[in-house]
Amino acid sequence: MIAPPVLFVTGTGTEVGKTVTTAAVASAAVQAGLRVAVLKPGQTGVAPGEPGDVDEVARLVGAPLAGRLTLRELVRYPEPLAPDTAARRSGRPYLDPADTAAAAAELAHDHDLVLVEGAGGLLVRYDDEGRTLADQALAARDLGLPAQLLLVATAGLGTLNTTSLTAEALAARGLPLFGVVIGAWPGSPGLADRCNLADLPRSAGAPLLGALPERAAAAGDFAAVARASLAPALHGRWDAAEFASTHQAAG
Ligand SMILES: Nc1ncnc2c1ncn2[C@@H]1O[C@H](COP(=O)(O)OP(=O)(O)O)[C@@H](O)[C@H]1O
Ligand SMILES: [Mg+2]
Repeated sequence: MIAPPVLFVTGTGTEVGKTVTTAAVASAAVQAGLRVAVLKPGQTGVAPGEPGDVDEVARLVGAPLAGRLTLRELVRYPEPLAPDTAARRSGRPYLDPADTAAAAAELAHDHDLVLVEGAGGLLVRYDDEGRTLADQALAARDLGLPAQLLLVATAGLGTLNTTSLTAEALAARGLPLFGVVIGAWPGSPGLADRCNLADLPRSAGAPLLGALPERAAAAGDFAAVARASLAPALHGRWDAAEFASTHQAAG
């Protein structure tokens, strides 16, 4: 099992670590010698000229590795709102799922891995028809791209419900969930965090493929953190069983 060429990165909510996870996967993949592109189809909450999530990915990955990344953003709306509302209020056009699919296809042509970061969680709307990141992934698959979803989840209490809801919404649409990454693993994990190491893959119906330490973004050596925190399927050397035996709660 190795990451398919197009991975749509979604989350159990907003601010769960999608961008940090996208950066970590990009870093690990570039270190493994892959040609990597990062696509943010709909960027909200950022004014023209300000750094968006793809710039944050580049900052985290850091020079010189970031120089080997291709970064792309399709539409941008200044207000920090769901993309449909942000688009309406800005008077700018909605993002069409076909545009995301076409951009992913173009990038997949000359890259080994294309990471597509959604806004918020899976069912956040991008237009007045209620189309979501799931529709963008479906459009990519309609073009013949082997697109799958990567779910970034929180570590603690509440994550099993939002993980199951996301997994069920993906299954209902016939979209494959490649795996789950914990966006911010606490320095002092509590009982729920530790139990969730076993329960998250069950709730997701997909493997746990990593856990980024909560200070990953501030770590001096992000490249090393990325390798150590992601499973081989995401080009790192994190071992789920070993991590669980270190942290998992008894019983
Ligand atoms: N593992 C982590 N290490 C350090 N900071 C993190 C981590 N996960 C999330 N953060 C911080 O939390 C905030 C939200 O993370 P981000 O990746 O931007 O979430 P999302 O893309 O899901 O909205 C950011 O300020 C980010 O720096
Ligand atoms: Mg983000």
